[in-house]
Amino acid sequence: MKIRKAVKGDTSEILNVHKKAFGEKKGIVIRQLVDSLLEDITAKPGFSLVAVEDDMIVGHILFTKVIINGASEGLPAQILAPLAVLPDYQNRGIGCQLVKAGIDELRKSGVKLVFVLGHPGYYPRYGFSPAGERGYDAPYPIPEEHSGAWMVQELYPGIIGVERGAVQCSDALNEPEHWRE
Ligand SMILES: CC(C)(COP(=O)(O)OP(=O)(O)OC[C@H]1O[C@@H](n2cnc3c(N)ncnc32)[C@H](O)[C@@H]1OP(=O)(O)O)[C@@H](O)C(=O)NCCC(=O)NCCS
Repeated sequence: MKIRKAVKGDTSEILNVHKKAFGEKKGIVIRQLVDSLLEDITAKPGFSLVAVEDDMIVGHILFTKVIINGASEGLPAQILAPLAVLPDYQNRGIGCQLVKAGIDELRKSGVKLVFVLGHPGYYPRYGFSPAGERGYDAPYPIPEEHSGAWMVQELYPGIIGVERGAVQCSDALNEPEHWRE
């Protein structure tokens, strides 16, 4: 299995990975989201990585730009959304390698903070922890019972506790339907 940066010609295979990984109903919504995010200028710079096995794209991770209103202007920050691995290739560490490779890439590019809205049982293993209590508001209020799903990690020390504010995503990700669960 190899991880590399995505290129233009990968788009249809990437969209297919999301459609299959997220299943019938949600797959269509996420497929559309990824398609929009890849074209959205407010999402740039973005980081798009693919996992390739058997000459096929079997996993994809996307990070896109966020602005933190209230923090130092221009603070480089990104959000992880979405991540998917083809069902037949899940539980073999591919998702893990995509997250780690993505975070390495972000750090090398000078990104200071990365956010995710995801499963609180999955992302803490990569260094994410609850964002709300550290002063980072999500674009839409997260219900109290799901507050642990809104997470952040700093890629350089000394950011959390100093910088705080309201996270503003790209136009494509800023639709309320992506913040409901
Ligand atoms: C989540 C996903 C990307 C993980 O990829 P993967 O290659 O199977 O992950 P890995 O093999 O690296 O890790 C497997 C671990 O992830 C856990 N996991 C898988 N899906 C999970 C989910 N939706 N929520 C929480 N944990 C999950 C597994 O239980 C396993 O945990 P363990 O190591 O403690 O046993 C993949 O299952 C997937 O594409 N799911 C559908 C799409 C999705 O839910 N994406 C994430 C939201 S953006």
